[in-house]
Amino acid sequence: MKNILEALEERRAAAKLGGGQKRIEAQHGRGKLTARERIELLLDSGSFEEFDMFVQHRCVDFGMQNQDKIPGDGVVTGWGTVNGRTVFVFAKDFTVFGGSLSETHAQKMVKIQDMALKMRAPIIGLFDAGGARIQEGVAALGGYGEVFKRNVMASGVIPQISVIMGPCAGGDVYSPAMTDFIFMVRDTSYMFVTGPDVVKTVTNETVTAEELGGAKVHSTKSSVADGAWDNDVEAMLQVRRLIDFLPSNNTDGVPELPSFDDPTRFDMSLDTLIPDNPNKPYDMKELIQKVVDEGDFFEIQEGYAKNIITGFARVEGRTVGVVANQPMVLAGVLDSDASRKASRFVRFCDSFDIPIVTFVDVPGFLPGTAQEYGGLIKHGAKLLFAYSQATVPLVTIITRKAFGGAYDVMASKHIGGDVNYAWPTAQIAVMGAKGAVEIIFRQDIGDAEKIAARTQEYEERFLSPFVAAERGYIDEVIMPHSTRRRVSRALAMLRTKKAEQPWKKHDNIPL
Ligand code: HXC
Repeated sequence: MKNILEALEERRAAAKLGGGQKRIEAQHGRGKLTARERIELLLDSGSFEEFDMFVQHRCVDFGMQNQDKIPGDGVVTGWGTVNGRTVFVFAKDFTVFGGSLSETHAQKMVKIQDMALKMRAPIIGLFDAGGARIQEGVAALGGYGEVFKRNVMASGVIPQISVIMGPCAGGDVYSPAMTDFIFMVRDTSYMFVTGPDVVKTVTNETVTAEELGGAKVHSTKSSVADGAWDNDVEAMLQVRRLIDFLPSNNTDGVPELPSFDDPTRFDMSLDTLIPDNPNKPYDMKELIQKVVDEGDFFEIQEGYAKNIITGFARVEGRTVGVVANQPMVLAGVLDSDASRKASRFVRFCDSFDIPIVTFVDVPGFLPGTAQEYGGLIKHGAKLLFAYSQATVPLVTIITRKAFGGAYDVMASKHIGGDVNYAWPTAQIAVMGAKGAVEIIFRQDIGDAEKIAARTQEYEERFLSPFVAAERGYIDEVIMPHSTRRRVSRALAMLRTKKAEQPWKKHDNIPL
């Protein structure tokens, strides 16, 4: 028996070496951890249960004979816990054929995907891989198809998180693209459908991997990535933090963590947050941090379309999604990028029963040919659609401007807002006073005195929350300092919300 146990230990030790000590050193030399080291950091200590450690590929083409068979076949899979909650995980092992996907490698992933869906638990993929195993041809492509199909089946049922931790190409970017969140590691991770060499051949463009698909590009320009972290350790810790905010599936409801922040706490500094001059910006993040539990806010897509803020926080220990216009960037205007960013976030929250708190200070949609040619109508409609479709609790606070169509879009009463509050500084109107007067009193342009009088009249009549409050579109005009108390009480009341949509196979959101 002793010999048998020792033989098992030896086989395990060999499998754990992956592509061998030299390749592990090369991995470390590039500033990356190995697949198993990453899993150790991601999961609670000692909680990882590995599956399929001894799986090997079955390919015999292109010199892939017996000596190339490495146990595990380029992906480490299994399950464990994050702060006690079950998650499933797979981590590509770049030391084995560059983490590339073979038929058997795909079967390992599919097993984990199926189990995660069956157990209704989140799945986390750590990517560091060069796509389909070239030597296997269609067997590898078929494997990817099986993975993709399962990504889609699981979408909206269990959270799927992808972390890009090395050079990733082909199927190793398309599978993440169908998951809920993609995070990248700065300077060591890249995502592209085709790499710099192919780009050079096809388009004659000379571009580095970093310029083509680095963390900076994808977290600020393309919006493919939802966040970027400095190194592997930070990335794993932040994924743990994200998991703490997320429900395990679409029926369990949000996790409830102990909170030491009084839900009725007043914050008197909020009474002076809005500057006297309506054209002066202020930082909406200050409001978010002062309203949510312990100022803890996990921002999603922080570096992209900064004119809108999206992220997770807690109120009374329960997760909420926060969407907020940011007056510090482009005056908080809604453009195509901001609309896309926020609509995807709203749909994630709605899929997973996460209530949404919306803070509004929006001067409208961004005018101009660049926006119109870029499909602002369709992108803006995405956000309108996403909010209108949401059945989760919606609590909205208008702090200052809510102009035009953007008023309707930002979780207004009319499209499903459950509790809609406004600060006394709110201005709810079709547009600002100057623009309005120049249109409806066009004949008076040139008469400065008349225009000034008309502007003042318009401001007094419309640039307040009271016209909307008189109609019940705003439930109450509230003191800024009481915002946390108002929000937490509204969310507590809304916990039993039941809202149904008529039966449909699925909707047809403008894409
Ligand atoms: C087999 C591969 C491989 C692959 C890398 N390797 N990619 N083996 N199939 N796809 C192997 C290398 O031979 C090498 O083996 C080791 O992994 C490390 O690779 P390097 O090239 O030395 O590393 P690096 O310079 O860091 O470059 C990493 C890389 C590059 C950018 C990922 O390897 C690369 O471009 N690979 C090919 C990417 C690709 O075109 N994949 C197919 C995509 S099509 P040794 O033995 O030397 O350590 C696809 C289909 C799905 O995925 C379609 C979905 C819609």
